[in-house]
Amino acid sequence: MDKIVIEGGTPLNGDITISGAKNSAIKLMAVCLLTDEPLELTNMPHLRDTRSMGGLLEHLGVKVETGPGSRMFLHAATLSSTEAPYDLVRKMRASFNVLGPLLAREHKARVSLPGGCAIGARPVDLHLKAMESLGATIELEDGYVVASAKGGLKGAEITFPFVSVGATEHAMMAASLAQGETVLYNAAREPEIIDLANCLNAMGAQIVGAGRSEVRINGVKKLSGTSYAVVPDRIEAGTYALAAATVGGKVRLVNVRSDHLGSLWPLIAQAGAKVTMDEASVLIERNPKTRLRPVDVETQAYPGFPTDLQAQFMAMCCLADGVSVIRENIFENRFMHCPELIRLGANIKVTGREAIVRGVKEFHGAPVMATDLRASASLIAAGLAAHGETSIGRVYHLDRGFEHIEVKLGNCGANIRRERE
Ligand code: UD1
Repeated sequence: MDKIVIEGGTPLNGDITISGAKNSAIKLMAVCLLTDEPLELTNMPHLRDTRSMGGLLEHLGVKVETGPGSRMFLHAATLSSTEAPYDLVRKMRASFNVLGPLLAREHKARVSLPGGCAIGARPVDLHLKAMESLGATIELEDGYVVASAKGGLKGAEITFPFVSVGATEHAMMAASLAQGETVLYNAAREPEIIDLANCLNAMGAQIVGAGRSEVRINGVKKLSGTSYAVVPDRIEAGTYALAAATVGGKVRLVNVRSDHLGSLWPLIAQAGAKVTMDEASVLIERNPKTRLRPVDVETQAYPGFPTDLQAQFMAMCCLADGVSVIRENIFENRFMHCPELIRLGANIKVTGREAIVRGVKEFHGAPVMATDLRASASLIAAGLAAHGETSIGRVYHLDRGFEHIEVKLGNCGANIRRERE
């Protein structure tokens, strides 16, 4: 198993090109199941999660090829299976989202209940209720969801009791090929939802309102192939912006949609870093000799502050001159990075959904373990700021969602390397 070893204390200086969004890419890959024509995705990140999804799609009979320049070709001319087995789904929760497309196209599916990061219970009840509203019959059998929709899915009004990114996307995909109109109320508004709708619409779907709470989908009989560019990854961009603020230096993020991180920039500025934006780049500057300022934050559904940046934000607050209060509203068990940050010298007290972070002057290098995908990024930033050597184990979490992280940071002067354990 690989580990990342960091010799900390060097400011970050340089440019970082942001990759295509993981969370969008894996759903866009599943879209190929909705058409027998080829789908080309560009600006695709090369990640463990995209490989996992590729493996699952191949199992279903999809031809999956990667091309030059971050391209991926997916062709589901015919499907050889409608079953997504446990071994393939457990690696990544989002792979559960093949259920809806399989139901829409083949009118049946058998999909294992998902795995993914252990950041809370993360049930799929909203997904299943949405499929039932669209006319599917759902049964649970030996850890599998067995679903069927004789005669095809039918448009429906679906009101989500709370906002779910995955369930909104799932309903949108399935409803695209349902008979009649579907209206989603209290839909998630994340940029990845808009990306998915844009791709589906380019294939001939009729989706209006993606990015708003009410989404209307007029079902069509057939979707065609297309070529579509994945939106830049706002979480990767936010992670590097926070790393630059935590460690200090001058980092320019390139190929970034700064408007997708509207909740982050004012908070980074409040912490004491300078943020300058133009159309496709963001510059983060901070003098490493000055102390950061404490900032309170709470996670919210988009356009609020993203839960996927909470751990990285906390790493920054650990070095502030004062007390920050960080509240996690989306997932009930997303503070697993705290004991690891404490190993590096942080002073954090967690009570329920709140973490009280009392800033310390510096981190000290130590061996730590990555506990989930985004938490591992917070440990990298802390390690880069720390005095001495930090080694981060279980980096397979990191490889799920960050493309060439040690190369991108190494290009900014970080002393970081990957080692075989
Ligand atoms: C997606 C993102 C993840 C991000 C999260 C919230 C992907 C691949 N992952 O995850 O990185 O952290 O959005 O922005 O896009 N819930 C239920 N029942 C359901 C579905 C969700 O109770 O059927 C709960 C979850 O446990 C969680 C909350 O709803 O507490 C929000 O989850 P959701 O928005 O669905 O997150 P994901 O789509 O899994």
